[in-house]
Amino acid sequence: MGEIRLALKSGADPRKIIFAHTIKTHKALKYASSVSVNFMTFDTKEELLKIHKDFPTARLVLRLKAESTQEFYNLSKKFGCELSEAEDLLLHAKNLNLNVVGVSFHVGALIECSEIYTSAIEKSRQVFDTAQKLGFKFTIIDIGAGFFGSIEKEQVFHKVSHDIKRSLEENFPNGDVEFIAEPGCYCVASAVSLTTSILGKKSVDSNGTNQISREYFVNDSYYGSFFEHHDLYDVKPVPVLNPSELKERRKYKSKIWGQTCCSEDVAKEECVLPDMEEGEFIQWLNMGAYARGVASNFTIVPYPVHKHVFIQNPKLKLNNIPNLSEVMEYISQVSVLIKQNGEEDI
Ligand SMILES: Cc1ncc(COP(=O)(O)O)c(C=O)c1O
Repeated sequence: MGEIRLALKSGADPRKIIFAHTIKTHKALKYASSVSVNFMTFDTKEELLKIHKDFPTARLVLRLKAESTQEFYNLSKKFGCELSEAEDLLLHAKNLNLNVVGVSFHVGALIECSEIYTSAIEKSRQVFDTAQKLGFKFTIIDIGAGFFGSIEKEQVFHKVSHDIKRSLEENFPNGDVEFIAEPGCYCVASAVSLTTSILGKKSVDSNGTNQISREYFVNDSYYGSFFEHHDLYDVKPVPVLNPSELKERRKYKSKIWGQTCCSEDVAKEECVLPDMEEGEFIQWLNMGAYARGVASNFTIVPYPVHKHVFIQNPKLKLNNIPNLSEVMEYISQVSVLIKQNGEEDI
């Protein structure tokens, strides 16, 4: 409900929102109905009964499990139905007179392997055929997300999206199906950099033994921005030093701890850094996905202060934004606005 409310407040068209969590509360269903967000997923009979009660005119997509071997963030562990369950679920929807219009899946986060998508697309094709037999007219396939959002993985994105496109063309050749996606990480990961300050340091003389010989303590934490597996998002520490300092300083194998009292609170287990001092800064790139969303202020470590920097760039195609003047007004209030030539404006 909170996400829908935020999206609507930001000007989203309710018809373009998908309520993608398969397990919904009655309250959330009623809220969605009241704000005309009628597009949603399901993966169980129990949820169909709830939808039937609270929002019987909703447009539904059946969420399928995708075959992911991914250890972390494998969303098919938690959501989606097996292909073998699809027919029974669709029959159940039919008996309840519900409007099922397509299929969705989410392969899980940070997927490098196209086959996970293409096999889910092939399964979706089978569900489309079953649906047709049962008298449904399916028109939508939602390919979920799972894309990287860092420059480092740009080639992976191109390869995966190319293979997805080919598979969609092969499996849905008639051009009568709408494809949508729900990318999160892809849109935001590289948009945020975090700057931490070094609060303290431990130096150990490793006498060339290649052991960790510098430990730094920074003013954020595992309970703040450095959530578990954050480094899978290509988060990496960059010392904020000028080029001559970078060159001159000796490099050490280093560990970076978060600020709290907890011994699991590690920001970076191991990296090589120039010898840094208390009060200097370490910047972390690709921090836009999930870090802020999951942060707590355990041991009263404050949340990082946000500073928005808006870089005007012709590639942004600003004219596609319908309420551009409102958006620019907002940005000018909350951001440092940088013109294309790098000159600071506000
Ligand atoms: C239903 C759904 N859609 C989209 C996303 C965004 O996924 P990603 O960060 O892989 O783009 C998530 C993330 O958990 C999700 O659960």
